[in-house]
Amino acid sequence: MSLTDEHIPTRDEILTDIWQRLSDSADQAGKAWGVPVLSNQFRGEPTARSVVLRAVDSEQRKLFAFTDARSPKVAQLREHSAAIWTFYDPVGRIQLIAHTEIEVKSVGADVDHFWNSSRPESLHCYLGEDAPGTKVDTPSVVPTMSIQLHDLAGGRENFAVLEATIKELDWLALRRSGNLRARFHWTGEDWDFSWLVP
Ligand SMILES: Cc1cc2nc3c(=O)[nH]c(=O)nc-3n(C[C@H](O)[C@H](O)[C@H](O)COP(=O)(O)O)c2cc1C
Repeated sequence: MSLTDEHIPTRDEILTDIWQRLSDSADQAGKAWGVPVLSNQFRGEPTARSVVLRAVDSEQRKLFAFTDARSPKVAQLREHSAAIWTFYDPVGRIQLIAHTEIEVKSVGADVDHFWNSSRPESLHCYLGEDAPGTKVDTPSVVPTMSIQLHDLAGGRENFAVLEATIKELDWLALRRSGNLRARFHWTGEDWDFSWLVP
């Protein structure tokens, strides 16, 4: 099924397409939905940044990203867990806005698994001595060449997983035949579906 043709997709077709696109994009920074913008609010101020979508779990309605445990967003999300992930595919012309609650995890079997199964070049950024966002006199560069997983052990304590549980999805497809927008709200048992004016 193409969401760009004139067929009006059903609720289930849209949901299947959403999870397919998310899982195709996970750990694929080159894919359109691979680098969402993650936004939250902290003490009344909006804040947002790009992150790499690392994994998804459609059964548990989860999205995962990795970050430095010392980064400002970790302290913010530990205090206020509500966060929005915005995805846009400029070729498929589909936007997805996922309203979530984030749990920051830095210990446990899941976090160890993500750490151990990651490519070394994705983990070298956790070796820095200072927290992300620290002011410095000169730019510091951590060499990325030839880093092996065992060289990275010191970075493990700085590694954190953002585990987001989706509460609501706002889906928008731009189509020549007429834009479509739909909302999926998780009731606790199932997705409550509504078409919305785009
Ligand atoms: C393409 C791209 C991918 C990024 N991926 C991540 C990521 O997966 N995790 C992360 O913490 N920061 C990532 N960043 C950096 C963040 O956008 C941000 O600059 C940094 O995390 C500091 O955010 P904070 O000060 O809000 O904590 C990425 C930046 C770009 C440009």
